[in-house]
Amino acid sequence: MEILLGFCQFNVYWGDKERNFKKVESLFSQLKDNNSLKIIVLPELFSTGYLFLDRKEIFNLSEKVEGETYHFLKYLAKNYNSIIAGGFLEKENNNFYNSSLVVAPDGSYLLYRKIHLFKDEKDFFAKGNLKLGIFEYNNLKIGTLICFDYFFPEAARTLAIKGAEIICHPSNLILPYAPLITQVRALENHIFWILANRIGIEKRGDKELRFLGKSQIVSPKGEILIKVENEETLKLVKVNINEAKDKKVTDKNDLFFDRRTEFYEI
Ligand code: ACM
Repeated sequence: MEILLGFCQFNVYWGDKERNFKKVESLFSQLKDNNSLKIIVLPELFSTGYLFLDRKEIFNLSEKVEGETYHFLKYLAKNYNSIIAGGFLEKENNNFYNSSLVVAPDGSYLLYRKIHLFKDEKDFFAKGNLKLGIFEYNNLKIGTLICFDYFFPEAARTLAIKGAEIICHPSNLILPYAPLITQVRALENHIFWILANRIGIEKRGDKELRFLGKSQIVSPKGEILIKVENEETLKLVKVNINEAKDKKVTDKNDLFFDRRTEFYEI
């Protein structure tokens, strides 16, 4: 089955959801005459920005699962016939999560809460408490991770074994390793990988972060199908999803059947 995979890379404006929604929609507007089903990934925390100084800021910007960001993604998914993944700042009871949503044109969705928190995220966010799950739509099987999760091969492997053919990876990359590591994760699991990063510098109080750009899409053979540097852009590439169903490396080696789990116990 052929489908378009894509990412939307841009400079998130801190604390202004409306402005970020407008930016995303302006990048999507080039797709208005493209009616085929697409899977498009936005960055981590794309509606709010990333750096927070205290819990009060987080409280003010956070939202319940079916909040403003979900409604924006649902509108975008329906209008552009796309399955869209993107990160948002989630509030549940007294906890805050660095979460992502995968939303389909009919409004159905998968919620994921980042399980491997990076650096100062540990000061504010609760660790993700949901099992890694698969979102199924139109016979597509989609998993999502968030940024630093790429460093833990078990996370991608779990999704692949559960049937994920595509991993949507909203990110706010700071370290330089993700382009290489996600290429390997795609190859070792024979899956498609959409890495969507942001660009720009976020300066809040005495903290400053520079985001890497370098969003990319990798095939199940580990080939980089499309890669950008540091520009604001929405890119698409056509793929055949069936390539992710074949786990054979040679005629006698299958990535999943050849696993020797009895030797992996610690
Ligand atoms: C990261 O996990 N945002 C580096």
